Amino acid sequence: MARKTEITLPRVDDRLRSVGIIMDGNGRWAKKRLLPRSAGHIAGAKIVERVLEDFKAMGVHHITLYAFSTENWKRPKEEVDGLMALLYKYLDEVVAPKILRDGDFSVRFLGDKSVLSEKLRNKCIEIENMLTDAPFVCNIAFNYGGRDEIVHAVNEALKEGCSPITEEDIRRHLYTAGSPDPDLIIRTGGDFRVSNFLIWQGAYSEYYVTETLWPDFDREEIIKAYDAFYSRKRRFGGLDPEDSGNQN
Ligand code: IPE
Ligand code: IPE
Ligand code: MG
Repeated sequence: MARKTEITLPRVDDRLRSVGIIMDGNGRWAKKRLLPRSAGHIAGAKIVERVLEDFKAMGVHHITLYAFSTENWKRPKEEVDGLMALLYKYLDEVVAPKILRDGDFSVRFLGDKSVLSEKLRNKCIEIENMLTDAPFVCNIAFNYGGRDEIVHAVNEALKEGCSPITEEDIRRHLYTAGSPDPDLIIRTGGDFRVSNFLIWQGAYSEYYVTETLWPDFDREEIIKAYDAFYSRKRRFGGLDPEDSGNQN
């Protein structure tokens, strides 16, 4: 049997340009191993680069990773502090060297950075400014909430004097402005919910949920998500082109 790393990745076409991932299940992964939750977050961070490389190899140009929600502040201070420290370390030790070495990904943060510590905020800005026109884009949703994003966008449109506010006015002020909406949103950890992730942009996304916990999300899982996506018929409210000639 082929080793997992030897599994060949399929190529995507224009139908799958953008993927969002709700990286859930780190805590349960740790609990199963009688480890602290922080060990689950560390294990989850370790697989991110490989997942990015795999989607890049498949030709997916936009990846959006849900790393910390506006609701995750409700967690114990120790866990929140650990997640902030982990993001800083990850950006400093993995992301910045990768951008310098490979020059393939532009990184953008989705969410309100103003409440992050100055040290972390500056690191995020430094990373964003390192490379702004790379062929691939990785959005990191951190202190991100879809409701917060829409309220922020509406307020920006109001400041511009838009009246009445149109969909385009809102779209222009979303944190994702300029990026295509996700074609596919993957959620690990088995829960069938959105948890405030890309609620505007995901209006017509295909959803794929796997029971697999985030630190165990491997190449086989990516292929399962790919197969599920290509088995769907996206109609966007219209009719399937194959059926549209048939009025019966
Ligand atoms: C997702 O894993 C990571 C974050 C929300 C930061 P969880 O920490 O939610 O893991 P579970 O859902 O408790 O297993
Ligand atoms: C969603 O996971 C947020 C992230 C993966 C960052 P949560 O664990 O916070 O979601 P709920 O609480 O189960 O809805
Ligand atoms: Mg969770």
